[in-house]
Amino acid sequence: MEYVHFHNGDTMPVFGLGTWDLRGDTCVNIVAAAIEQGYTLIDTARMYGNEKEVGRGIRKAGHSRSDLFITTKIFNPDTTYEKTKRAIEDSLKNLGLDYIDLLLIHEPYASSLDMYEAMKEARQEGLVRHIGISNFSQREYTNFVRKCGVIPAVNQVESHVYYVKENLQRAMASYGTVMQAWAPFTEGQRPIFSEPILKDIASDHGKTTGQIALKYLIQRRIPTIAKTSRVERLNENLALFDFMLTADEMSAIHTLDEGKSLFGWYE
Ligand SMILES: NC(=O)c1ccc[n+]([C@@H]2O[C@H](COP(=O)([O-])OP(=O)(O)OC[C@H]3O[C@@H](n4cnc5c(N)ncnc54)[C@H](OP(=O)(O)O)[C@@H]3O)[C@@H](O)[C@H]2O)c1
Repeated sequence: MEYVHFHNGDTMPVFGLGTWDLRGDTCVNIVAAAIEQGYTLIDTARMYGNEKEVGRGIRKAGHSRSDLFITTKIFNPDTTYEKTKRAIEDSLKNLGLDYIDLLLIHEPYASSLDMYEAMKEARQEGLVRHIGISNFSQREYTNFVRKCGVIPAVNQVESHVYYVKENLQRAMASYGTVMQAWAPFTEGQRPIFSEPILKDIASDHGKTTGQIALKYLIQRRIPTIAKTSRVERLNENLALFDFMLTADEMSAIHTLDEGKSLFGWYE
């Protein structure tokens, strides 16, 4: 595993398991299997309704808590200071953890700064190690960072070969915020696994197209989380650290970038 460094020197794994839409025992078993196979970062959210199952999966794997990096996110309607405080307690209870490694505001809200106050306090109390945001555009990020007091460790956003968001990544890096990618496989919005440019490069490396799509982000220093519900795909998605893409390959993949979101709900 490789790591990115936060502005305070702490680290986060560059790759982890996403859990959007994973339910019940499927969620429990995939989280446990992922940890057993070497995943250390697990990404959930209150909105996914699966924090309890993620917690059960973590306990089932039985690995040391300090080896893991667990992310969750606060979502509507917990958008006031008080409700955010209660949501943090509830998430800790759901997950069965003493602390959360990374707590994010799931999307920009009018009251994001109030929510962040509660998150800063939770960080002071040791309930949360790092705090950040998700789905903030460059304008929303810049407004937020001027007033928020503690630089967000992470802004988790849509990022994949068709829409990398390098300008946002660069702008946030200048403040010390890491851009983390969601939907690195486009969540099914595009037939990324049969994309000819990725397929050609994959065949040259003896890798799969999915591995090339993930490696492209990681090699651009964009940590990412990919979801699978299939145990047999966990290993494939994690096998990213025994090869490098050449500059020409990186440039070829860059031509896929269309500079716009594949999802209608936030931009
Ligand atoms: N902050 C936010 O607002 C936000 C928004 C969206 C997502 N997220 C986070 O980001 C994570 C990842 O994004 P995502 O789940 O939306 O989409 P994704 O990871 O881009 O794509 C998941 C899809 O890819 C398939 N897949 C996974 N590995 C594969 C492989 N090796 N070969 C072929 N197909 C493969 C999965 O199918 P199978 O399950 O059948 O393998 C699933 O249909 C989420 O789970 C969530 O944790 C955050």
